[in-house]
Amino acid sequence: MILVTGATGTVGSETVRLLSARHQPARALVRDPSRVAHRAGLADEIEVVTGDFDHPDTLDAALAGVGTVILVSPAVPAQEIAVVDSAVRNGVTHIVKITSKASPDSPVDRRRGQARIEAHLAATGLPHTLLRSNAYLQNLLALAPSVRQTRNFTMSAGDGQIGMIDARDVAAAATRVALAPAAHAGRTYRLTGPALITYGDIAKELSRTLGHHIEYRRISPDEHRAAMLRAGLPEAVATSNAQAFGLIAEGDAAWLTDEVATLTGAAPRSPQAFIAEHAAAFS
Ligand SMILES: NC(=O)c1ccc[n+]([C@@H]2O[C@H](COP(=O)([O-])OP(=O)(O)OC[C@H]3O[C@@H](n4cnc5c(N)ncnc54)[C@H](OP(=O)(O)O)[C@@H]3O)[C@@H](O)[C@H]2O)c1
Repeated sequence: MILVTGATGTVGSETVRLLSARHQPARALVRDPSRVAHRAGLADEIEVVTGDFDHPDTLDAALAGVGTVILVSPAVPAQEIAVVDSAVRNGVTHIVKITSKASPDSPVDRRRGQARIEAHLAATGLPHTLLRSNAYLQNLLALAPSVRQTRNFTMSAGDGQIGMIDARDVAAAATRVALAPAAHAGRTYRLTGPALITYGDIAKELSRTLGHHIEYRRISPDEHRAAMLRAGLPEAVATSNAQAFGLIAEGDAAWLTDEVATLTGAAPRSPQAFIAEHAAAFS
């Protein structure tokens, strides 16, 4: 039995859809079952269970009888550590952790948090696999209201290149690993899309797809942080985001691998295909 956490989120919902398409017995852990996408269309093998990372008793109930956990969440250390500890208590045999760049001395709080979670997971001795991804193409959807309303967007990523990946390919990789976990124990896969792109390239692609000019307005990380705070983002999130975009401007996300194809047997989706598919959201 495979359990997917964060099953209403970007990666988790696609992972559940893929497991359902294979009629693979699986549990989707959610805090609100009414938020499960296309619930009526899910295979009988998919069980929706209610649980909250902040309430370990609910995790223990959900994890009983589970072999493999696909761990995806907003990556708050205490919450993911609670899932890992519950997995140990319940005899789970493998964890597939969705993660990002991580380092204990990163200036970005989120990356220090991922490093804490990964260190805890390693210390348990539980066999596990890390899927460390570049930035998700789905992040571009946050630009859609501005592009729609003003035909421009602001961003502090400068002209830094990014190996952006479609989160559906992260889900496909997680599914493949979870179906044959022993072969992937102790491995870290670095997942990216097929090409390096800049936000300037994204503006050009949006312009081509929409048939009118879309402008990328470059702002500094400090200006970006202030804009995110004005838009209502929590301070910690705005700070981490602005720091991460500042690093991207310096080349921090300019890495590509072919590990999606190695794991899934299919080429990763391209930024061009993503923008074409979501054109209506931007126009
Ligand atoms: N975005 C990127 O560019 C990027 C790049 C690389 C790696 N990553 C990694 O990807 C992961 C995030 O994946 P994602 O984008 O799929 O996440 P997401 O869309 O933000 O989804 C988060 C999920 O966690 C659930 N959740 C939140 N709090 C919960 C709680 N207390 N108890 C139970 N469930 C809870 C949410 O449920 P509700 O629907 O109820 O809120 C939702 O299903 C992070 O580890 C991040 O570091 C992201």
